[in-house]
Amino acid sequence: MSAAVREEPCGPPGSFAKRVLVTGGAGFIASHVIVSLVEDYPDYMIINLDKLDYCASLKNLEPISNKRNYKFIQGDICDSHFVKLLFEMEKIDIVLHFAAQTHVDLSFVRAFEFEFTYVNVYGTHVLVNTAYEARVEKFIYVSTDEVYGGSLDQEFDESSPKQPTNPYASSKAAAECFVQSYWERYKFPVVITRSSNVYGPHQYPEKVIPKFISLLQHDRKCCIHGSGLQRRNFLYAADVVEAFLTVLRKGEPGEIYNIGTSFEMSIVQLAKELIQLIKETNSESETEKWVDYVNDRPHNDMRYPMKSEKMRSLGWKPKVPWEEGIKKTVEWYRENFHNWKNAEKALEPFPVEPPFV
Ligand SMILES: NC(=O)c1ccc[n+]([C@@H]2O[C@H](COP(=O)([O-])OP(=O)(O)OC[C@H]3O[C@@H](n4cnc5c(N)ncnc54)[C@H](O)[C@@H]3O)[C@@H](O)[C@H]2O)c1
Repeated sequence: MSAAVREEPCGPPGSFAKRVLVTGGAGFIASHVIVSLVEDYPDYMIINLDKLDYCASLKNLEPISNKRNYKFIQGDICDSHFVKLLFEMEKIDIVLHFAAQTHVDLSFVRAFEFEFTYVNVYGTHVLVNTAYEARVEKFIYVSTDEVYGGSLDQEFDESSPKQPTNPYASSKAAAECFVQSYWERYKFPVVITRSSNVYGPHQYPEKVIPKFISLLQHDRKCCIHGSGLQRRNFLYAADVVEAFLTVLRKGEPGEIYNIGTSFEMSIVQLAKELIQLIKETNSESETEKWVDYVNDRPHNDMRYPMKSEKMRSLGWKPKVPWEEGIKKTVEWYRENFHNWKNAEKALEPFPVEPPFV
């Protein structure tokens, strides 16, 4: 097996009730999921497969890195031989597949566009096929609300058509099709989730919330794409972890689950709230000084309104109020911005100037 970074003294495969493979576990959302799984399921072995891309940090896993039911393996989901060997050696029962190229802005840059197709579509195909051949009992594919494309007023439910409008969302939608086909063809028990935007600690500061927080904490202006009137629904990481644990326990094979919230705000409103919180000002003119409007993305969906009744019927609903989640997040970045060696790079203006617009 290539590059096993650290093998834990964790006993033979048979000594755990289940062996769970989580991909992308050194990234944002999956690191929170792994910490909860390792702590809440001591009889489950949690195996984190991550290639440690620029946005990953093993610091995200420090609270559990020495636990006997946790193991980190560095590797690439696109390497089919390696993935096959990993399934053979680790006797995987359940897969939670988070690993992906996730930065929408980057997906518009022509030099990176095919990397999104390669990792998100081909990598997912490799993984689901290997999981199928290994007779895994549940394969959870983590997708996104962005597969629906934007909408001003129509609320998407799980049967709404996929109409992605950017290369990232297109690759996630295409990967969904591959995953779903294993259910249609073989009744292989796949479950797909589509989540709203997630925020909280551990997120590489290229995405809007940690980027604005980090810019302001470094006395730099929030850079707003276009008008900033686009609205986004934001879920706190702890709520999303609960959603994934719910899907793990109760998600039905072949089903798709929206993981959403009715809480939404525009990007301008988000910037203003963060300025008030971090710069401790209520003055309109002072607030404006911390805002910079830059060129918009080639396409920027206005809203992703979603119905999440299916998740509600499994007993899940978001609990963390925005005011509480955002305060915790701001505090976390004050102490942990340097968890990534290249964090400063994430704060640079994005190349959305021609030829990308
Ligand atoms: N962040 C959000 O708001 C959000 C919302 C909806 C859905 N999602 C989905 O959730 C998943 C996780 O998102 P995130 O924001 O935590 O991502 P992230 O960018 O923080 O982390 C992705 C992780 O995947 C790893 N990775 C990338 N390519 C890999 C490869 N070829 N092999 C192995 N590992 C690889 C990276 O090293 C990184 O640790 C993604 O599939 C994303 O599409 C995210």
